Amino acid sequence: MKVVKTIEELKKHIRDCKKTRKEIGFVPTMGYLHEGHLSLIKYAASENDFVVVSIFVNPTQFGPKEDYAEYPRDLERDISLAEKAGAHMIFAPATSEMYPKGYATFVEVERLTENLCGGSRPGFFRGIATVVTKLFHLVEPNRAYFGQKDAQQAIVIQRMVRDLNMNIEICACPIIRESDGLAMSSRNVYLSSEERHQALSLSQSLFCAKELILNGERDKQIILSDIHQKIASQPLAEIDYIEMVDSENLKEVEQVCGRILIALAVWFGKTRLIDNIFVEV
Ligand code: PAF
Repeated sequence: MKVVKTIEELKKHIRDCKKTRKEIGFVPTMGYLHEGHLSLIKYAASENDFVVVSIFVNPTQFGPKEDYAEYPRDLERDISLAEKAGAHMIFAPATSEMYPKGYATFVEVERLTENLCGGSRPGFFRGIATVVTKLFHLVEPNRAYFGQKDAQQAIVIQRMVRDLNMNIEICACPIIRESDGLAMSSRNVYLSSEERHQALSLSQSLFCAKELILNGERDKQIILSDIHQKIASQPLAEIDYIEMVDSENLKEVEQVCGRILIALAVWFGKTRLIDNIFVEV
C-alpha cells in the first residue's frame, strides 16, 4: 500500500488511476482508526477499484478551546489497519501542505449547519466543508464514504456536493457500535471506565426513544424528556443538546412524522460524545 504525504505525489497516482479508468472510492478521516472507519474502507473496497484513505487532523474544524492538540494520532497503526481493511493508498499530508501560508478560502453550507453540532461548535462545519472540498478536488473520487454517527456531517456534505455540482456519490454508512451499544469514536479513548459506563445511557436512551415511537408516541416533548431524564440521571453527564429534526432539512419538528433524526451531544468530563438514531413512521 502506498503512503503519500504531498499533493504532487497524490495527484500523480490519481492521474494514473484515471488513465486506467479505475473507479476511486474515498474515505476521509482524521485517523486513530476504529471499526467504524474500517467498515467505511470495506464498503469502499467492495464498490471501487482503488481506495484512498486520507488521514488529516483538520485544524480548521476545531475551535480555539477544543482538543486539536490532544486529538489522538497514531499513523503507523492506522496504515496497517487501513491496509488490512482494503485501502490502496493513504494520503497523510502535513498541515502546511493543506493550508499553506496565506491560505484564505473557505466553504460555507448555510442553514443545515446552524443547529445541532453547528450550534455548539461555531466554525465546525465551515472547516469540514472546506477540507472535504479540497480533498475531493485532490482525490477526484467516484464515491466518498461517511459514517452516520456524524449524521449532520453526512447531510451537510451531501448538500454541498449537490449545490456545487460535484460529480461524487456520497455514501452514508451505518453507525458501528461496541457490543454494549456505545457508538465507536476516536474520542472514546479519553473516557475513564466510569465515564464510559455512564456513556452507555446515550445509545440506550436513543434505542428506548425509537421503541416509544414505534409503539405510537409522536410528541417530541415526551420523547426528548425521556431521553433527557435517562442521561441526566448519570452524575458525570453534562448534556450539550438533544434534538429531534427532519432528516433532510434538519429543521426542528414538533411531532414525529416521516423520517426524523434524533441527535444528541453529551459531555463526560472533557470528552464530548455524539450519537443519533433515524426513525421513520
Ligand atoms: O469525520 C471526520 O473525521 C472529519 O470531519 C472529516 C470528514 C475527515 C473532515 O476532516
